[in-house]
Amino acid sequence: MQTLSFKNYEVLSDYMADIIANSIKNEPNLVLCMASGSTPALTCDLLVQKLKEGQVDYSKFTFLGLDEWVGLPPTNTGSCHYFFHKKIFEPLQLSPSQYFLFNALAEDLKDECSKMDKMISDKGGIDIMIVGIGMNGHIGFNEPGTSFTLLSHVAELDEITKSVGQKYFDGPVALGEGITIGLGHLMNTKKVFLMANGSKKAEVIKKTIEGPVTKSFPASIMQKHPDGCILIDEEAGSLLKKDK
Ligand code: PGA
Repeated sequence: MQTLSFKNYEVLSDYMADIIANSIKNEPNLVLCMASGSTPALTCDLLVQKLKEGQVDYSKFTFLGLDEWVGLPPTNTGSCHYFFHKKIFEPLQLSPSQYFLFNALAEDLKDECSKMDKMISDKGGIDIMIVGIGMNGHIGFNEPGTSFTLLSHVAELDEITKSVGQKYFDGPVALGEGITIGLGHLMNTKKVFLMANGSKKAEVIKKTIEGPVTKSFPASIMQKHPDGCILIDEEAGSLLKKDK
């Protein structure tokens, strides 16, 4: 596992966006899976800019959304659907056949999971996955205790996720379950990037990099990934041992 540290959030996001844009340029059929949230927000904006300015052909890559809050309509401004529509799909005018996000309103959520699993397998696997990290060490909605081998699944949300998650919404929202791509898919992804910025993430980044690999702290799985990379800014890395 590689760890790269950047001066600040802006430089980190620029680096991440460059990697994605260049990967799409070199491999137009790339399969990209991304998390929504505060961390990748600037990466998305810069990615759109780089793809447009770099005259990259972005009409063939596949975009998969990592997760969604169960029960939320895509029009809810705190939903992952809303985030990606505004940040990626609309600015790039992607064809709906190019992206797949979980329908969190579906009556049969298991079927939604099967659809995602089939999509990933039909596309020959995920090439690049970009995730953030929760304050409890979760990745997507792979909450503490989740098996490292699960594929797409519905998860009961941890109390920390329910309370921290309120930041995405205009007013209080009852959050109960999430639907998510699982850690089994993460392990099968060719290249995984975990991004974190700000001093509030310093503790969880320390555990991710220096702590034991354990189901009770899902992000620790990054230590096991054959091509995993942690991207942090100086604040998120402030508690790491000096030689890291
Ligand atoms: P954030 O979310 O990027 O909004 O901090 C990270 C996460 O909960 O996975």
